[in-house]
Amino acid sequence: MKIAVVVGTRPEIIKMSPIIRECEKRGVDFFILHTGQHYSYNMDQVFFEQLELPESRYNLDVGSGTHGEQTGKILMGIEKVLTEERPDVVLVEGDTNTVVAGALAASKLHIKVGHVEAGLRSYDRSMPEEINRVVADHISDFLFAPTEKSKQILLDEGVESEKIFITGNTIVDSVYQNLDLADKKMNLLDELGLESKSYFLVTAHRQENVDDKERFQGILQGLSRLHEIYGLPIVYPIHPRARKMMERFGFDADGVKLVEPADFLGFLQLERNARLVLTDSGGVQEETCILGRPCVTLRDSTERPETLDVGSNVLAGVNPKKIIECVSMMFDNNKKWDNPFGDGTAGKKIVNILEKEFL
Ligand code: UD1
Ligand code: UDP
Repeated sequence: MKIAVVVGTRPEIIKMSPIIRECEKRGVDFFILHTGQHYSYNMDQVFFEQLELPESRYNLDVGSGTHGEQTGKILMGIEKVLTEERPDVVLVEGDTNTVVAGALAASKLHIKVGHVEAGLRSYDRSMPEEINRVVADHISDFLFAPTEKSKQILLDEGVESEKIFITGNTIVDSVYQNLDLADKKMNLLDELGLESKSYFLVTAHRQENVDDKERFQGILQGLSRLHEIYGLPIVYPIHPRARKMMERFGFDADGVKLVEPADFLGFLQLERNARLVLTDSGGVQEETCILGRPCVTLRDSTERPETLDVGSNVLAGVNPKKIIECVSMMFDNNKKWDNPFGDGTAGKKIVNILEKEFL
């Protein structure tokens, strides 16, 4: 069995790491194909180093661009590599342009595709990620659904049940594998002058939020207001897209401490100790749920409804008033919930399924 593991962005590197580890442990023949969609050190290489991942055999260096440019370049580059390498299966993870291009290139070459984190839907086609998810799911041969709910979504869309496997989400593996290390190795709270449970952590980077002047302004106004009301520090490790758009719009972020994107261990430590997290990230909605921290999501919809069901997360959108209301609802929320995303063995389960098929 030969596996091509395709990655391109920060969350894909983090969420593929348990599968890569499992392949290394078992001596599986695999290689990493990096599209280069993310390329800044703190969005890319830092995760390879910290998670001790082997080097990518290929890096397509596609960089940034419009959706068409980026997807097209990835498609062309991946096709070339797959034609030479002829793996038995190509694994893609999540909902980025790297994922849709990887799945499409492989399926046209009649190479099997495994989609890790299949069956997520926001039902909002204005998000580029929603289109990527739908396309990737419908051309994949192995759909690794994190939960019963995601499996049902796929069944309702007519995907054959033999192709769907409920594995849990590999983010649980990544969190469990790295949490102790984060506690032992990192000292980010002291470095940033923060006290445990006495600050808000924020991330916002989605195209439909930060590229839209009014929506981004709504988020930043909500955060400034939060700072006035609670008097607590607000830390925002800012994604390069959001940084670029803030500069373009000429926005300030009163009361918000902007810092560089954190590495994974540092970010886990920040999440675990935050009083509350505000985010528009998919992965952060999951991690806060796994870590038992309340989350307020700065979006109108989520493809992670399990977090709403267990009560770890609420949807606020970007209206400042609504953001404040949601924070006050979740601020003293001492509710305990069960993590719906699995037991931290998703990576093992996925490699087991592939070995059964190809060995
Ligand atoms: C992409 C994914 C998104 C995912 C996010 C993870 C798509 C359509 N979007 O969004 O689903 O949540 O990654 O973080 O695939 N930039 C840098 N350095 C980098 C990467 C990007 O400076 O290493 C800047 C560039 O100005 C670039 C912008 O960020 O134009 C956006 O990058 P891009 O990869 O197109 O999309 P993301 O917003 O990162
Ligand atoms: N993350 C990180 N440093 C940061 C912000 C996020 O390491 O400064 C990690 C976070 O722990 C999670 C992943 O990046 O595992 C989420 O990625 P992102 O929010 O960029 O994308 P999404 O999940 O929305 O696709």
